[in-house]
Amino acid sequence: MSRPVNRQWLLARRPEGLVSSSDFRLVESPAPEPADGEALVRNLYLSVDPTQRGWMAGDTYLPAVKIGEVMRSFAVGEVTASRHPAFKPGQLVQGLFGWQDWAVARPGTSSSPTPVPSGVPVETAMSALGLTGITAYFGLLDVGRPKPGETVVVSGAAGATGSAAAQIAKISGCRVIGIAGGPEKCAYLTGELGLDGAVDYRGGNVGKALRELCPSGIDVFFDNVGGPVLDLVLGQLALRGRIVLCGGIAHYNDALPARGPANYLALVMKRGRMEGFIVLDYLPRAGEAVTALSGWLRDGRLKDRVDVVHGLENAPAALLRVFEGKNQGKQLVRLAAPSP
Ligand SMILES: NC(=O)c1ccc[n+]([C@@H]2O[C@H](COP(=O)([O-])OP(=O)(O)OC[C@H]3O[C@@H](n4cnc5c(N)ncnc54)[C@H](OP(=O)(O)O)[C@@H]3O)[C@@H](O)[C@H]2O)c1
Repeated sequence: MSRPVNRQWLLARRPEGLVSSSDFRLVESPAPEPADGEALVRNLYLSVDPTQRGWMAGDTYLPAVKIGEVMRSFAVGEVTASRHPAFKPGQLVQGLFGWQDWAVARPGTSSSPTPVPSGVPVETAMSALGLTGITAYFGLLDVGRPKPGETVVVSGAAGATGSAAAQIAKISGCRVIGIAGGPEKCAYLTGELGLDGAVDYRGGNVGKALRELCPSGIDVFFDNVGGPVLDLVLGQLALRGRIVLCGGIAHYNDALPARGPANYLALVMKRGRMEGFIVLDYLPRAGEAVTALSGWLRDGRLKDRVDVVHGLENAPAALLRVFEGKNQGKQLVRLAAPSP
């Protein structure tokens, strides 16, 4: 029987400025065959993550994707053939399977597959109950440590991670202000998500809006963005305020390393703390987050929104969407449906 075609997006060059489809090259070859100890996985969904821009550019918390290699991506796929006792055809698994139709997954390597929890829709397993929700959970609760009644500000608040972090802060009994781009996203934050206020960073005076909405200062800032807004928040930090550095998307397409915030001495005056984290360090405790997040999803206190682009051919365009703020919630690319 002839092997199916495997379309693969390879990294063609290191990006300069905003990611572009010409940073990638689409090639076709026969689908691989699994060796002993491996499983063949048909990708169903790709996760689109701003951190992929960093993986394209150089070494980060993971080594850089090499030129000519399949673009790295988290994905969910279906096992179609297995030469590993732990994996059976028909099983849904997740892992770093890359921008391709077919992947060979081998436990103990970077393509190590882990089962998708049963009874959970794939899109939710990749969003609120996946790395996105786990990032928000530990970033906010473990690093930010909000207390009931405190004021929490979240940047990128209408995005996947930000919207989860903002809702977890509400569930924790905080006053929560979200920062997002445009009136529509701000209306979503105060309407659908029930936040206490929203600031449109693209229109108007962000510093003034934050001062009005946070009269006692900002106790916790969950920052997905960096840039000038981080400086403004530093200037309004409450005593013993905490800044959680989840990401800095405003800098990801910069040619030069990001410059530090001018207002950093506020950390001294306010006895504050600014701390970064990477979700992968929390994977041994993922079950704790997934149990809590599942409960909040079930009782309606946590809302999950996904934004699905169709077709592997659109993976580069989907990555661009998160840098243009076009995504409404967790950005995914859908390649295929699981077999019936
Ligand atoms: N530390 C970790 O382990 C970890 C794990 C996962 C994600 N993250 C970080 O979390 C952040 C959000 O990731 P996500 O996957 O949830 O994506 P997302 O928030 O769903 O999408 C990215 C959003 O960022 C905003 N944005 C894009 N360019 C911007 C700019 N120049 N200035 C301000 N805002 C901009 C856009 O929203 P607007 O329309 O509001 O501008 C866009 O919708 C990223 O910084 C990511 O690297 C960190």
